[in-house]
Amino acid sequence: MIAVLDQIAALGIAAELGEVFAAAFAADDPSADAVRFATEQLPTHAARDDFKLVTYETPVAGFAYGFTGYPGQWWSDRIAGAVSPELAADWIGGHFEVVELAVRPSARCQGIGAELMTALVDGLPQRRALLTTYADDRPAPRLYRRLGWQLLVEDLGWGSALYGLELLDRGVPGVR
Ligand SMILES: CC(C)(COP(=O)(O)OP(=O)(O)OC[C@H]1O[C@@H](n2cnc3c(N)ncnc32)[C@H](O)[C@@H]1OP(=O)(O)O)[C@@H](O)C(=O)NCCC(=O)NCCS
Repeated sequence: MIAVLDQIAALGIAAELGEVFAAAFAADDPSADAVRFATEQLPTHAARDDFKLVTYETPVAGFAYGFTGYPGQWWSDRIAGAVSPELAADWIGGHFEVVELAVRPSARCQGIGAELMTALVDGLPQRRALLTTYADDRPAPRLYRRLGWQLLVEDLGWGSALYGLELLDRGVPGVR
């Protein structure tokens, strides 16, 4: 059901992922563009360190991906500029950055989103993971909270909330 894809495999189905992306975000963001996702966003992110993408089913009903983020990258620097210096020092840099989670509208409310997020963070070597999502009450933030993500900043100033997950806390007790 779940497949884990590396850079080459993900780029091999970039067009299909772009369609899922555009369908998933259409209601919230009519400008979500399948071609831009497949030809610009995904190739840029797939080249980043430790890129990992998970899909659900063939044809793809949903996917999620991320990579290791560092200061100097656009997202890391934007978040660092919006949070306290202590939080930035603690969380940003070497974190696993969750970039997208998307499930086709026709496949929702069956646990696919939760399964994708669980598979995405499973076995990651990073100490911590970060993501931004909607600050208001919606399926995505509810899903992250249900899976143990902690709310770090309720509103970063542009309607997004910052969530973090301690990855090493989930392993075998005593093994860090
Ligand atoms: C957010 C998103 C990925 C969730 O995907 P999903 O596959 O529907 O997620 P799940 O099925 O795991 O959970 C969704 C809901 O279904 C419920 N659910 C899960 N399995 C269920 C089942 N078998 N029967 C009934 N309900 C179920 C969950 O409890 C959850 O309910 P809630 O929203 O009231 O908390 C999807 O809505 C989406 O693609 N949204 C647009 C893009 C987006 O917002 N991405 C995240 C940006 S940060």
